Amino acid sequence: MTSFDLETAFLLFFVPKTVFSPVIAFAIVALAAVWLSPGGLAWALSKAPRSIPGPPGVVLALAGTAAHRALAGLARSIGATRLMAFSVGLTRFIVSSHPDTAREILNSSAFADRPIKESAYELLFHRAMGFAPFGEYWRNLRRISATHLFSPRRIAAFGEHRWAIGEQMVGDIRALMGTDGAVELKRVLHFGSLNNVMMSVFGKRFDFAKGEGLELEALVKEGYELLGMFNWSDHFPLLGWLDLQGVRKRCRRLAGRVNVLVGKIIEEHRRKRIDGGGLDGAGDFVDVLLDLEKEERLSDSDMVAVLWEMIFRGTDTVAILLEWIMARMVLHPEIQSKVQSEIDAITGNSRLVSDSDIPHLPYLQSMVKESLRMHPPGPLLSWARLAIHDVHIGNHFIPAGTTAMVNMWAITHDEAIWANPNEFKPERFMSEDVSILGSDLRLAPFGSGRRVCPGKALGLATVHLWLAQLLQSFQWVASDGGVDLSECLNMSLEMKNPLVCRALPR
Ligand code: HEM
Repeated sequence: MTSFDLETAFLLFFVPKTVFSPVIAFAIVALAAVWLSPGGLAWALSKAPRSIPGPPGVVLALAGTAAHRALAGLARSIGATRLMAFSVGLTRFIVSSHPDTAREILNSSAFADRPIKESAYELLFHRAMGFAPFGEYWRNLRRISATHLFSPRRIAAFGEHRWAIGEQMVGDIRALMGTDGAVELKRVLHFGSLNNVMMSVFGKRFDFAKGEGLELEALVKEGYELLGMFNWSDHFPLLGWLDLQGVRKRCRRLAGRVNVLVGKIIEEHRRKRIDGGGLDGAGDFVDVLLDLEKEERLSDSDMVAVLWEMIFRGTDTVAILLEWIMARMVLHPEIQSKVQSEIDAITGNSRLVSDSDIPHLPYLQSMVKESLRMHPPGPLLSWARLAIHDVHIGNHFIPAGTTAMVNMWAITHDEAIWANPNEFKPERFMSEDVSILGSDLRLAPFGSGRRVCPGKALGLATVHLWLAQLLQSFQWVASDGGVDLSECLNMSLEMKNPLVCRALPR
């Protein structure tokens, strides 16, 4: 016998009973069985039969900055693209990487709730539309915003502001080119987008270099960070009270500051109405909420949550998508000049492009679709869904309380669904009219079903117009650093290294 064998034999036969009692042995075996069961710990503890394939153990993929890629790879490797089960701590997940199961999940009333993260709860977002439980309060918020913020009439009415902000960005870019010789586009797009949302929500624009504007920008930045963070307390309840990452503490401090600032803006609106001095931002969303009839009226803290959420949802998605599109424009000069020719043809090279031109720019629209396919701002559809009651997806039983995700990135990069999925080719949408608003699950960057993005038309109107303005004004070329398409998934899918490029006058 070798010394190793001797040691092993000693361990097996001579470990004292007190250390390796049958009870402990049983516990270890049971724990290993639970841990190694398909889908991992949380599934093993549930009443569901283990019919859904899934990796055992804790999946750390969600904690990384490329969760969409990690989950897509895992699902492919175990043949679970239609549905994969996995656990993170005590949270039971399913993820779909296929249009059929994605449709079943997103369009089922059983998945009309969202799991609420600690950060969202602490920031009072459970009182805003995105995280409010499915029910009367949520339905009411959707109805109010559909009528007063997202209706075609409202979107058209804000066209002038949108256009003016687009022109302001063109001016800022020109100035930056003059001083620096290159532009970090993300900053320009972020502040443009933030002001655009501020205009429709608060009825005013801000100077983000000082005073209220400076504070607002700091609050938005901190909020993005907290909401985008993977928080272990969400999945390991015992860790919750320890608040190891300090998320709860930071959220509470932030919620206080948001209350003061947004509360003050609401108060200003109230005062103006009492003074009868007319409303500067007549018809902004604060006024809409203040005008609600008694039974629909929101408390002040609910109003803060609703307004604050709009700022969060409306700002980064638009700015981040535009940054990806511009990166593509720099990388594909032939596509850029094709879009520019389309714009020039419609404006006759004699006037500035505007909202009313967009329906006549099919190639520009196809290019936006292709960018949404390759770089969906919410690759896992931003925030997940929660099973309100027991339900079946296909033949699989899903118990109430399961978190369901759709990996839209995996679907839009699946070669069984899209020919040459890694090739940037807007032409694919010229030959086939694919709706991106939620009816075709091969490309649903705004989600689908009851909780589909209510801001999709506003978001697209903004992206289309600003893109047309940026391409009409400048020829976009790479700076010395080139273009790096590496991704980083925070709250949205961002460019890891911000795009720095040169905008040459046309
Ligand atoms: C390019 C722009 C945008 C993209 C890609 C986007 C994407 C999404 C996605 C994927 C969802 C989840 C849908 C689902 O669960 O099925 C969502 C929800 C939501 N979005 Fe957007 N969004 C965009 C712009 C906007 C804008 C401009 C606003 C408002 C100003 C907005 C407000 C919301 C809200 C409030 C929800 C939650 C709806 C609910 O849970 O009932 N989004 N968005």
